[in-house]
Amino acid sequence: MASHSRFLLLSLFLSSILLTTHIVNSADEEQNLLQQINSYRVSVNLTALKENGNAKCLAEGMADEFRDQPCTNNTGANTVPGTETQFSSYPQVLQSCHLNVTTTRDGAIMPACVPNLVPDLVLSNFTQSQYASNLNDTKYTGIGIGSKNNWIVVVLTTDTPEGNYATATNDNSSANLVSTFGLFCQALFLSVSFWMMM
Ligand SMILES: *[C@@H]1O[C@H](CO)[C@@H](O)[C@H](O)[C@H]1NC(C)=O
Ligand SMILES: *[C@@H]1O[C@H](CO)[C@@H](O)[C@H](O)[C@H]1NC(C)=O
Ligand SMILES: *[C@@H]1O[C@H](CO)[C@@H](O)[C@H](O)[C@H]1NC(C)=O
Ligand SMILES: *[C@@H]1O[C@H](CO)[C@@H](O)[C@H](O)[C@H]1NC(C)=O
Ligand SMILES: *[C@@H]1O[C@H](CO)[C@@H](O)[C@H](O)[C@H]1NC(C)=O
Repeated sequence: MASHSRFLLLSLFLSSILLTTHIVNSADEEQNLLQQINSYRVSVNLTALKENGNAKCLAEGMADEFRDQPCTNNTGANTVPGTETQFSSYPQVLQSCHLNVTTTRDGAIMPACVPNLVPDLVLSNFTQSQYASNLNDTKYTGIGIGSKNNWIVVVLTTDTPEGNYATATNDNSSANLVSTFGLFCQALFLSVSFWMMM
């Protein structure tokens, strides 16, 4: 009995390590894409894009919304401009990132779907699609990248009040609490399972 529950905990522990590793890999691809986009910007004499935390939050939120959608030709970078599926939950994602339409309307949200986020394909989905002209645009100064499963979302921001993704002042911070609580639970679970194995 005792050995059973130890085994169970050990496998839970190992799978949470695997899960964490997967998250790290996807973060690697976000970092990789950021570097590539910025090398491209520098090569055409544009300023490198600065990371914007609120834009990243929105990108993560949108990627989360897309995560279960298959890669088809009516979503993502293969889309004919103007036929993108409307982001029905966009207002909620904005709100959970403490953003509102006032400061985000001049930004650009660019989702792409690439099975397994293969780096070369991810890059070409942004540099060789209708998104390329945005990456080449002097008006964008900031960037946030988020990914989930096969989806990766790049959000570009400007340095004007209409697109700087400034944090909205009048909202509640329940979203923050929820994510802090999630992290707390994960940490607690990890330490409890570690302790049980001793
Ligand atoms: C980049 O800017 C520098 C100086 O501002 C200029 O000499 C160079 O020709 C530019 N390169 C390109 C590719 O536009
Ligand atoms: C999307 O794919 C379907 C079938 O694979 C095809 O019939 C349709 O023409 C494609 N649409 C576009 C916009 O490429
Ligand atoms: C974008 O990624 C898809 C895989 O989902 C790939 O088939 C397509 O060729 C890529 N498009 C570009 C422009 O690189
Ligand atoms: C980006 O801008 C440069 C310089 O203005 C231009 O030569 C290049 O063709 C542009 N590329 C794209 C993909 O728009
Ligand atoms: C958006 O935020 C700005 C600045 O915080 C505020 O003035 C405005 O009323 C907000 N708009 C909405 C629709 O919440």
